Amino acid sequence: MEKDIFEQNRESWNNRAEVHYDSDFYNNKAFIEGESSLNSIELDLLGNIKGQRVLHAMCHFGQDSLSMARMGGEVTAFDISDKAIQKAEELARTIGVKANFITTSYYDLPQVLDEQFDLFFTTYGVLGWLPDLDKWAEIAAQFTKTGGRLILVEFHPVIWMYDDQFQKIEYNYFNEEMITTEDSSYTDKNSEVKNRFNSWNHSLSEVMSALINAGFRIEKFQEFNYSPYDCFSNTKEISKGKFRIKNFDNKVPMVYAIEALKPQ
Ligand SMILES: C[S@@+](CC[C@H](N)C(=O)[O-])C[C@H]1O[C@@H](n2cnc3c(N)ncnc32)[C@H](O)[C@@H]1O
Repeated sequence: MEKDIFEQNRESWNNRAEVHYDSDFYNNKAFIEGESSLNSIELDLLGNIKGQRVLHAMCHFGQDSLSMARMGGEVTAFDISDKAIQKAEELARTIGVKANFITTSYYDLPQVLDEQFDLFFTTYGVLGWLPDLDKWAEIAAQFTKTGGRLILVEFHPVIWMYDDQFQKIEYNYFNEEMITTEDSSYTDKNSEVKNRFNSWNHSLSEVMSALINAGFRIEKFQEFNYSPYDCFSNTKEISKGKFRIKNFDNKVPMVYAIEALKPQ
């Protein structure tokens, strides 16, 4: 049953991978010319990662993985989408930067990798594809060295409660049910091609409890009233690279960030 759910998501992300690679949204031209794909929210948490071993979970086609490699990190990155990983490898060859890319579903990672890292990094649009956060955090802890860090930057669960146009509350804040949607893509909102996705909303207490129970100590927790990505409907750009939902203005959280330590 779960396998079918993940298999459906894998196919949907495969459909998206190729479109995303050439999209204006991901602006690969600027990336290839040397621009980092990382935003100030995660850059501020990352600090100097030169020489650090980084595990990038759910890396899509690798822009952020390769941005961290350009910063001097020794990066291993994985994703469920074989097409996205192919594209990540192509991108690495194009820019001449090294990273180790692996195709695997998150929960299968322990079957294909047996190493520990200084930093476990995962951002924007990742947790929603995973039903069981206790298992997510246990795996993150397994792959993080003692004394190592976890950085999670994620869209806020409040933002996933609304209908597509942000007119009314449609979904639960809490992880009560699997949500199945038909969606084009955040890079091309008018595309006719629809993908079927299965996802789950995760309250902040669910995320934090999972991390604490897996042995992490939360060092920083931040909430932001903007998104660095223009990936929702009815948005306005309030300043360069900062987007809000028009009718919500600054009144709701859109993104949160956690830095956690795996203590000695
Ligand atoms: C929204 S993207 C992440 C975006 C990334 N922050 C970026 O901007 O490039 C979500 C990624 O999660 C991957 N994914 C979805 N379900 C997964 C799973 N069960 N295991 C591993 N990766 C998964 C998708 O293939 C996709 O590449």
